[in-house]
Amino acid sequence: MMRIDIITVLPELIKSPFEASILKRAVEKGLVEVHMHNLRDYTDKSYNQVDDYQFGGGAGMVLMIEPIDKCISALQASRSYDAIIYMTPDGKTLDQKMANSLSLQKNIIILCGHYKGVDHRVRERFITHEISIGDYVLSGGELGAAVLCDAVIRLIPGVLNNETSALTDTFQDNLLAPPVYTRPSNYKGMEVPEVLLSGNFPKIEKWREEKAVERTEKLRPDLLNK
Ligand code: ADE
Repeated sequence: MMRIDIITVLPELIKSPFEASILKRAVEKGLVEVHMHNLRDYTDKSYNQVDDYQFGGGAGMVLMIEPIDKCISALQASRSYDAIIYMTPDGKTLDQKMANSLSLQKNIIILCGHYKGVDHRVRERFITHEISIGDYVLSGGELGAAVLCDAVIRLIPGVLNNETSALTDTFQDNLLAPPVYTRPSNYKGMEVPEVLLSGNFPKIEKWREEKAVERTEKLRPDLLNK
C-alpha cells in the first residue's frame, strides 16, 4: 500500500482526478491512499496567511517556511517518508524512469508551490526531489502533482486491469508504442495491417517491434540516444 500526502493551498484543484477513473479505482482497491493537507490549517497568523512579500523586494508572494515546517513535521511524527517532493518549474523534468522509481516507494509527500515559490530554506531543509512536468510555468504545483500522481499510481501492481499493459507503454524501453487497431478491419476502405489479422504471434511481435523503432526514429529520435 502506497501513501501520498499532498500539501497545497488549493485542495479543491487537485481532488477531482482521485474521484474518477483509474485513480479512483486504485484508491477503492486499497492500493493507494491519498491525503490532502491544506497549508492554511497549519498557520497561526490572522486570515490564515501562508505567504508573504519577498525579502529584497520584487513582485510576487512567497510561501512561508513555518506552516510548511509544521505540516511536514506533523506527518513525519506518524511515519517516515521515502521522498518529499516539491513541484516546481525549475525541478528535474518528469519522465517515465522517475515515475517507475517513485511507484516503488511507500510513503511520499508532494508539496505544491504557489505564487513566486517557497522560501528557499524549505527546499534546502525538507525537500528530497524537485520535479517539473515540463518547461512552462503553471499557476501552481497542483496540476503538476495530479500529473505526477497519475503517472505513478497507474504503475502500482494491481492498478491496471491488464498487468502487462504498463510494460508495453510508450517510453518503457525508450521506444514509442507501435500503432494499435480495433474492429472493423476495414473502415471505408481503410484497412488494418494484414499481419495483425494473421494469428501468427511471433510475426505480430516482430512487426510491433519494427513499428516501435520506426516511429521512434521518425518522431522522437532523441529517445534512441538515451
Ligand atoms: N509549478 C509551476 N509550474 C510547474 C511545472 N511546470 N511543473 C511542476 N510544477 C509547477
